[in-house]
Amino acid sequence: MRIPRLLLAVIIVIGGYLILKIPSGHYLIPASVIRLYMFFIIVGVILVMTFSDSSAKEMASPIVSLLGDPDRKRLRWVVFIILPLFAGYLTYNKVRPSFDAPVELRTVHPAPPSSAKVYDKSYNLLTLENPLRKDAANFSQYVREGGEIYFKNCFYCHGDKLNGRGHYAHGFNPLPANFQDVGTIAQLQESFVFWRVTTGGPGLPKEATPWLSAMPIWQHFLSEEEVWKVSMFIYDYTGRVPRVMKEEASVNPPPPPLMGGGEGEGEKGEGEKNMLSIAYAEDKAASGAKAIYDKRCAWCHGWEGAGDGPAAEFLNPRPRDFTAAVYKYKSSPYDAPFPTDEDLIRTISDGLPGTSMPAWNDLLSDKEIRDLVTYIKGFAGVEEKISAQVKVGKGVSSSEDSIRKGKELFIDRCSECHGEEARGDAAKALRTDWGDRVWPRDLTKPWTLRRGSEPQEIYTRISTGIPGTPMPSFADPENKKGLSEEERWHVVNYVKSLQKETPREGGSVVKMIKAAGEISDDPMNAQWEKAESVTFPVVPQIIAKERHFTPTITDISVKALYNEKEAAFLLEWDDRTKSMPGDAKAMELSEGGLYPDGVAIQWPVKIPEGMEKPYFGHGDGGHSVNIWHWSSGTTTSEGGIRLLDATGLGKSTPRDGGVGIKGGGIYRNGQWRVVMKRSLKTEDAEKDVQFEAGRFIPVAFAAWDGSNGETGSKHVLTTWYWAYPMPPAGGGVFTTPVIVMALVFGGEMLLARQVQRNSKG
Ligand code: HEC
Ligand code: HEC
Ligand code: HEC
Repeated sequence: MRIPRLLLAVIIVIGGYLILKIPSGHYLIPASVIRLYMFFIIVGVILVMTFSDSSAKEMASPIVSLLGDPDRKRLRWVVFIILPLFAGYLTYNKVRPSFDAPVELRTVHPAPPSSAKVYDKSYNLLTLENPLRKDAANFSQYVREGGEIYFKNCFYCHGDKLNGRGHYAHGFNPLPANFQDVGTIAQLQESFVFWRVTTGGPGLPKEATPWLSAMPIWQHFLSEEEVWKVSMFIYDYTGRVPRVMKEEASVNPPPPPLMGGGEGEGEKGEGEKNMLSIAYAEDKAASGAKAIYDKRCAWCHGWEGAGDGPAAEFLNPRPRDFTAAVYKYKSSPYDAPFPTDEDLIRTISDGLPGTSMPAWNDLLSDKEIRDLVTYIKGFAGVEEKISAQVKVGKGVSSSEDSIRKGKELFIDRCSECHGEEARGDAAKALRTDWGDRVWPRDLTKPWTLRRGSEPQEIYTRISTGIPGTPMPSFADPENKKGLSEEERWHVVNYVKSLQKETPREGGSVVKMIKAAGEISDDPMNAQWEKAESVTFPVVPQIIAKERHFTPTITDISVKALYNEKEAAFLLEWDDRTKSMPGDAKAMELSEGGLYPDGVAIQWPVKIPEGMEKPYFGHGDGGHSVNIWHWSSGTTTSEGGIRLLDATGLGKSTPRDGGVGIKGGGIYRNGQWRVVMKRSLKTEDAEKDVQFEAGRFIPVAFAAWDGSNGETGSKHVLTTWYWAYPMPPAGGGVFTTPVIVMALVFGGEMLLARQVQRNSKG
């Protein structure tokens, strides 16, 4: 059977489009390039298919018959109606306002330069080798030291499992490199790793978007030898070897003996299967559980289980000290001294969300996890097993009445710690049994609950409490404020009714909505209900000195409005303390120094025409940024808004007089609401961002919790997102598609008449 010519042409064009459109790996072809290719494909197909008169006729014949054949009248009308509708739909899609952020492409592994200037010395990257690898006798020692460096500096981003999923990775775009992926370090020479680590994101060439990468410049923090050691650790832990150009250049020690356990990664390349850590393989006499513990857990929990691994001092909450045998999360009754083994298995398998304790079920088998439970209980000499469990029962289904009862009970029993609106804004400084500061959970954020936010889980926590912390058991008859089973369920229903949704994934655009009339700078004004809120995760500043590792703020929500004159932004975030230096209550609640609370918005001075932006941390030499900084002030000095001009980290200067940024803040029940607004344009376009409807403007945010010792560079931040002043939907959104539909329909009718005349004549 021959395929009709016209059909063949359509198949070729659609096929070509699909091939271009389906992304291969990380690689996406930009729409403009696809359009260009499609143009050539269509022209090519038409040229070939209409090469001779007869072939042109053959190709056109189905169309001619559709237009002219009296037998095809019904089909003709169907096509005549569908085509204009389709054209109208396409036009509507083109003219309607779109909020899809501009696509940003980057080269992940750019060609390295042949030489690099690092530590004030010049290195030839073509011949550079890791000098420590020549010293095979001390290999294990170097790897071990590299591990310590890794767990003090890198794992927040690159992850405890080196998979690029550190507990702060979600705040960065591009994501930190996944070293377990065969596409990263396994493909690289060690000199490339050295170059990337020492010069960081800003050291990248333009095609790799250095202004977006959060990878710090490690020559500012680590010595040359430390960089080589951490590189050895990364290769060793993932069971990979650096790529070498010449075979003899490799000075790796002989293949290591097999280690018992820990080889869970199923994704290793074939030839490298058994390239396990030799640093931890020495202790062959040890049981599998010890070897796994030493390789996976000790970096945080310590080699003797005392919660004092190299990473511990950078973590809040701190890793558990197993020698005390006090565990927080259990389903056993309040009077049982330990959790059940199943509770511990669950902790290790699923991790504890909202902390750095990772989920291990992807790397470790069920048996390995069970063996680990026995092993860590052993640090305190515990052999006993608990099997009794809190009876959860059927529960009380949620209703207005139940929620109302729950609210009363919550205010009476829980609000002294969790705050009136459950944001964890306790009015007292709480500590764990082992002396660390602990904050009651912000119960409005279900994604921060360590045991998940299922009603049964919340019920269990209320019933059994959280041992080692002030969170009491409400089933304990000695608790004078105890709750009956039914009352506990009412409280659960109330807590569930408060829970917000997880910060929107991929929501990266602040839609600036056009407002009619004046815009107030009052954060409580009803006008804000019209604006759309978008929530961004924030992460601590761990890129440049002074770094900050133990934040309290987890996210920030933004709304925006504009009119002919001004642009206004409402920033909302949960902060457990209103920090006012000088205020007695604030002093009592503070930890690590007391400073004012604050929030900031960062703009590029020039809205970028192409991809290139200022470096996300305060801009850079060639690209300056404006920072609008609001601060809560102290009891003796007014807070307020100031404008900073910045051209790099540590290079910001306040501008006298500002440019009339107005606004103010209000603190209520554990939440700040701050408004900042400015005129759309200013007199000095060389120094200030100029807002323009219909353009995507890069924007970034930062916030300070002054009671958590946050001041200066110690704060939480986002990288670049977008603000988009939505052009008011003009009449064009509907009239243009209607005109297009009319034109297409008219064209069809004309063509049909022509064809029918020709066939008659
Ligand atoms: C603040 C987060 C952060 C920290 C901390 C961090 N990195 Fe990175 N790193 C990144 C990001 C993001 C990327 C990916 C973007 C890029 O290539 O610059 C990256 C990329 C890399 C790469 C390039 C991998 C490749 O395939 O090209 C290496 C190597 C690397 N990091 C090593 C380290 C080492 C070693 C440390 C600790 C000394 C560290 N990083 C600490 C964020 C971080
Ligand atoms: C990156 C650091 C880190 C690593 C690696 C780590 N943990 Fe943890 N772990 C923590 C932190 C932090 C906590 C405390 C969380 C809290 O207090 O809410 C914790 C808590 C625990 C708890 C106590 C839970 C409770 O109910 O009190 C157990 C058990 C545990 N970890 C086991 C392990 C095991 C087993 C491994 C290795 C397979 C491991 N951890 C690896 C950081 C880590
Ligand atoms: C004396 C202070 C105090 C009181 C009273 C209190 N809590 Fe807590 N609660 C805490 C602290 C502190 C934590 C956090 C413990 C930690 O992170 O280690 C917490 C944690 C929680 C969690 C988090 C569980 C998880 O999986 O993360 C829930 C749920 C909770 N409390 C509910 C309640 C409810 C409901 C009440 C009242 C019936 C209540 N709490 C009363 C101090 C308290």
